Amino acid sequence: MSHPQMVAGLASRMDCPLLLLFLLCALTVCVTPQPIAESCPERLVGDERKRTCPRPCKTDQDCGSKRQCLCDGQCGLSCVAPGRTCPWPLPPREDATARLLSPTHSFSALLEVRCKPGFALPSGLDATIRRCQGDRQWSGDEPICTESALPEPTISSPTCLLPQEVTSAFAIEGTAAVGAAIRYSCLSGADIVGSSENYCLENQTWQYPHPICKKVYCEPPPKVLQGYVVAVQKTEYEVGFDIHFLCKKNFRLDGPQKVTCLSNGNWSAAPPSCRARCLIPAERSRVMIDGVKRWPFDITDAMVPHGENVTFFCKHPRKQCGFGAAQTCFDGELQPPACYLEPTWLQYKLFPHRLVSEIEACADGDVETF
Ligand SMILES: *[C@@H]1O[C@H](CO)[C@@H](O)[C@H](O)[C@H]1NC(C)=O
Ligand SMILES: *[C@@H]1O[C@H](CO)[C@@H](O)[C@H](O)[C@H]1NC(C)=O
Ligand SMILES: *[C@@H]1O[C@H](CO)[C@@H](O)[C@H](O)[C@H]1NC(C)=O
Repeated sequence: MSHPQMVAGLASRMDCPLLLLFLLCALTVCVTPQPIAESCPERLVGDERKRTCPRPCKTDQDCGSKRQCLCDGQCGLSCVAPGRTCPWPLPPREDATARLLSPTHSFSALLEVRCKPGFALPSGLDATIRRCQGDRQWSGDEPICTESALPEPTISSPTCLLPQEVTSAFAIEGTAAVGAAIRYSCLSGADIVGSSENYCLENQTWQYPHPICKKVYCEPPPKVLQGYVVAVQKTEYEVGFDIHFLCKKNFRLDGPQKVTCLSNGNWSAAPPSCRARCLIPAERSRVMIDGVKRWPFDITDAMVPHGENVTFFCKHPRKQCGFGAAQTCFDGELQPPACYLEPTWLQYKLFPHRLVSEIEACADGDVETF
């Protein structure tokens, strides 16, 4: 309920002239509900442009028989004829309605002028109260109601707009009020592209454009030679995406079987390699593979997988005994140890029991001493 509405409601319920006068006072200048003669203001000479004040007085004796010394608003104590009336009814208006708040329209009666819906007074209020003066005029200027542009001006402090696409991507610290600052952080944990702070300017615009969250992708992993990537081919992979690797037949995976796209845009590991198997560089000598002594021709393709250890047999330089020397297959490369001598075809055919891989093994001490 607005102030004038409240006053009007009170006034119509409590038809008491004293109360009305007091309310009028509250609306204009005076404050305390003192006896009228004492609370009446001094005549304000400077403010008389719109009205003629009746003769000033101090007591009824100053006014003759037909008039009384009464408080006439800003005219102060004046000689007025209490039965004199102000214009009523008033001609109908398009912008406002007028109604009496007093039983009569005589001296000191109150009149409410209320703007019609959609109209307002220059003050922004929708009603005003006028008093019947001693000069038979309603107090104040004729109120003019004009069409109000907005239903209600917003009273809350002005803010800058934060669009939904911004609030859904960022955690925002601070407030979007004029003069305040905010700080952005990407909800995804990604890096910010742009200013991570912003200021709401006087004209309710942001000082900087809103930043963006860098979308995190992993680049396609490097090609794995002799292998396959088990994943849909893409130009970029989202965080959390797994890529599996397989090697072609006869190649062995060296590294992770799977990599995952991490939130920093890196893969969880370097991609693996597919390593080639090695041809055993011996034909007429047994070798030890996986703890088993075997002829190379008994092994499929005479090859061992990448990473396999192959123990060759070498002859002791001074004794009739053999000892093992291990070599590891690395990606197709398997060199025989320097001490290994491939037996000739004749040695192999004629004296198979004298082949180094078949003679007595050297005692541990023998091998260490040469
Ligand atoms: C708001 O104010 C800033 C700085 O005072 C100015 O650069 C900007 O152009 C203004 N924006 C609008 C929409 O008026
Ligand atoms: C991603 O990997 C590269 C190369 O290994 C490394 O230099 C970089 O620091 C990594 N980035 C992050 C954010 O860990
Ligand atoms: C081969 O030998 C090396 C060193 O002796 C050892 O670390 C590795 O585990 C062996 N590899 C295999 C497949 O047995």
